[in-house]
Amino acid sequence: MIIGIIGSGAMGAGIAQVVAAAGHEVRLLDQSAAALDKALASIGANLRKLAEKGKLTVEAAEAATARLHPTTAMADFADCGMVIEAIVEDLAVKQQVFKQVESIVPADCILASNTSSLAITAIAAACQRPERFVGIHFFNPAPLMQLVEIIPAVQTRAGLAEEVQALVAGWGKRPVLAQDTPGFIVNRVARPFYGEAIRILEEGIADVATIDWALTELGGFRMGPFALMDFIGHDVNYRVTESVFNAFFYDPRYRPSFTQRRLFEAGYYGRKAGRGFYDYAPGAAQPAPTRDPELGRRILHRVLAMLINEAAEALYLRVASAADLELAMTTGVNYPKGLLAWADELGPATVLATLDGLYHDYHEDRYRASVLLRRRAESNQHFLAQ
Ligand code: NAI
Repeated sequence: MIIGIIGSGAMGAGIAQVVAAAGHEVRLLDQSAAALDKALASIGANLRKLAEKGKLTVEAAEAATARLHPTTAMADFADCGMVIEAIVEDLAVKQQVFKQVESIVPADCILASNTSSLAITAIAAACQRPERFVGIHFFNPAPLMQLVEIIPAVQTRAGLAEEVQALVAGWGKRPVLAQDTPGFIVNRVARPFYGEAIRILEEGIADVATIDWALTELGGFRMGPFALMDFIGHDVNYRVTESVFNAFFYDPRYRPSFTQRRLFEAGYYGRKAGRGFYDYAPGAAQPAPTRDPELGRRILHRVLAMLINEAAEALYLRVASAADLELAMTTGVNYPKGLLAWADELGPATVLATLDGLYHDYHEDRYRASVLLRRRAESNQHFLAQ
């Protein structure tokens, strides 16, 4: 099957590499010829590096490169069996592009968007044949990240999401199925990792370095929330937080913080700006954590309880299966354990007690426990089969 990819930026180029390496002919389209040149150079370099490391034969790398056909003309999509869009995150622009795509591709061509924050259903609504539309959400960098979230829209025909799931699995990825709800799985369930850490900071319970220490040293997360937000960039991370909050009709669980908004407004985007929660200027002193195990454990359990609550609620509302929730968080954001497994390990009653304690203290809806967590705690049952 020939695959068309629209947008050759960070994501489009990565997806093109995956798909070409998997054996598909690829038509890679961008409105900017310079973006196409840059994408081809970077894909070529990546494939050569893989060959040097012995992960791919030189012939396979060359063959994959030869399967990439850059273009600025949509007419070249006439023979595509699938089109994946990875352009600017703007609903009106995406809708317009898919209208144009539909005027060119065959009637049975699968249409997919890599959007992270728009409703798949809303993009599909612009199509004449929305039943062939599906969300296919890769993580950055696409060639390295295993997880792909597959999201059927309200209009998607029965069976298409599963077909696309099988196709993506054939590309060496770990696809999961998610409902078309804001943030899909990862960008929804992971929100408290950032939001609750900032809340702890704002309340003066601990400083940035101590919170990061607690989550990494005691929790086993690869990066602490502040180091991670600085790494992702506050321009990206703040916008995702704000868009998930808006999309959830202002549910206080997802409310953005003034602290991060101010960093965003100041242009203190993190690593790439030289300044975020931490100072990245050469020679800048790095703050030392207060290595207080009791304080650290309290912080960790508060953030963990909020994360587990999100996973429990996503399971309760059938956003994804338990297995897919676990796979998404361990492969999409590299959590050391699935959150449901973690809940079982701590004991649902312990997690519920932490949340109910927060709810009791603050009387904020933000800390309301998922009914599924409460049921598991009260019936002394685990989330996962033992
Ligand atoms: P990017 O800014 O790196 O690349 C976008 C590319 O699309 C540019 O090369 C631009 O010239 C091209 N483009 C824009 N409008 C176009 C149009 N109308 N026709 C043809 N080409 C057009 O953006 P990035 O980061 O690759 O994101 C693309 C999509 O993927 C967005 O929907 C984003 O939300 C989503 N996404 C991004 C992730 C990330 O971490 N960057 C992760 C997962 C999804």
